[in-house]
Amino acid sequence: MPELIITEGLKHSFNLGKIEVPVLFGIDMTVLDGQFIALCGTSGSGKSTLLNLIGGLIRPTGGKIMCCGSEITEMSEDQLSLFRREQIGFIFQSYNLLPDLTALENVEIPLIFAEVAAARRRDMARRVLEMVGLSGRADHKPNELSGGQQQRVSIARALVNSPRLVLADEPTGNLDSRTEQEIMDLMQEMNREKGQTFVVVTHDHAVAGRADRVIYLRDGLIDGEEESSGGL
Ligand SMILES: Nc1ncnc2c1ncn2[C@@H]1O[C@H](COP(=O)(O)OP(=O)(O)OP(=O)(O)O)[C@@H](O)[C@H]1O
Ligand SMILES: [Mg+2]
Repeated sequence: MPELIITEGLKHSFNLGKIEVPVLFGIDMTVLDGQFIALCGTSGSGKSTLLNLIGGLIRPTGGKIMCCGSEITEMSEDQLSLFRREQIGFIFQSYNLLPDLTALENVEIPLIFAEVAAARRRDMARRVLEMVGLSGRADHKPNELSGGQQQRVSIARALVNSPRLVLADEPTGNLDSRTEQEIMDLMQEMNREKGQTFVVVTHDHAVAGRADRVIYLRDGLIDGEEESSGGL
């Protein structure tokens, strides 16, 4: 398995007015292609920041990130947004679905950006909705769906253009434990079947225990790793 993500001396500080708030202090991390990684650590340890850096949503203040074969720290804004669009699927705790669009239309969004023709778009979105067990809800708006169903839609949206890397920030944080298991099952199934790499931020030991590998973050530094027998 080649490396899909390599970070070297990755640092990040946020600027609050004139005050610089250092958050990551030099992260050296490698993720292999096809792995299912859990990223754990206390609140404020920098998990979301690290995920957003890897996905090119924010730029680091120091160090390098190689992701999906490119050094994203060297990219222009245009290259970076193309990189995000083509290589990364994002899943958030709060689903981030557009409220006025149906489930199917929400799943189509990445394909609109990728300029896929309308009929093909619809087909692809339907197929992925079926994969996540939601074909019966394609025409529902987000507020007509349960939390677990909304997260399934957001997973479908993240996967519809077959990104190499899926980044999920506490994807089951708002769900009850049974729904959490179902969502984890779904993500692991996608990881196994499609070979897509997953990095999942979680507070939950049950979720982390199912990953191939758990990376612990503490106060902006890596504080250990664990290979897990997981559910795989
Ligand atoms: N946009 C921002 N501006 C200023 N500081 C920020 C910003 N985003 C995060 N921080 C700070 O960076 C630190 C790390 O935040 P981050 O969101 O990465 O932590 P986290 O590990 O994801 O925490 P949680 O588990 O609560 O989601 C925190 O101290 C936070 O206050
Ligand atoms: Mg966070």
